[in-house]
Amino acid sequence: MEFYQVVRTRRSVRKYKPDPVPKETLNRILEAVRIAPSGSNRQPWKFILITDPALKRKLATACHNQKFIAEAPIAIVALAQKLQINRGGYMGEMSTLMDTTIAFTHLVLAARAEALGTCWIGAFNNDEIKKLLNIPDEYYVVAVTPLGSPANGEKAFTETVDRKPLKEIVTENEF
Ligand SMILES: Cc1cc2nc3c(=O)[nH]c(=O)nc-3n(C[C@H](O)[C@H](O)[C@H](O)COP(=O)(O)O)c2cc1C
Repeated sequence: MEFYQVVRTRRSVRKYKPDPVPKETLNRILEAVRIAPSGSNRQPWKFILITDPALKRKLATACHNQKFIAEAPIAIVALAQKLQINRGGYMGEMSTLMDTTIAFTHLVLAARAEALGTCWIGAFNNDEIKKLLNIPDEYYVVAVTPLGSPANGEKAFTETVDRKPLKEIVTENEF
């Protein structure tokens, strides 16, 4: 699928079919995640795939009860390792969060290219998810997403309309 078509039609999908994601498709998406860039190529991320239905429901509860997460065949939890390094720069130790969100962006765009839905979930209880999935202290939970076929198929991938115009967000040579 053409790149600009992917970014124009990636939507947050909140209704899913239970159909499984073919293994080859999942592998292509995960490969897109694997090759994402990161500061000093540290790749400080981990991704937990949740396929067990009961665990998915508990995860959805920990995500402020956003039940649709458990409808999808897979839910993915993205983690960032806490780094002890602060190389200066604008994010310091928090650069691990940026690295992981870049990889997560690869995930949601690759999923769209495969006609699969995602929904970036930022509303969750960090401690509950860590306990549920036995995540060590040295990791942050960064984001969660369901992954699966949208309940209404291709119709889910509508064109982006509700965004600020360029002139409001881009300037040249000064603020
Ligand atoms: C960091 C972040 C956190 C978000 N958290 C949630 C969430 O917890 N639940 C939800 O339904 N959508 C969540 N969203 C989806 C946004 O609401 C959505 O991306 C935005 O409204 C634009 O719509 P679109 O994704 O269809 O283009 C989140 C998106 C981002 C980028």
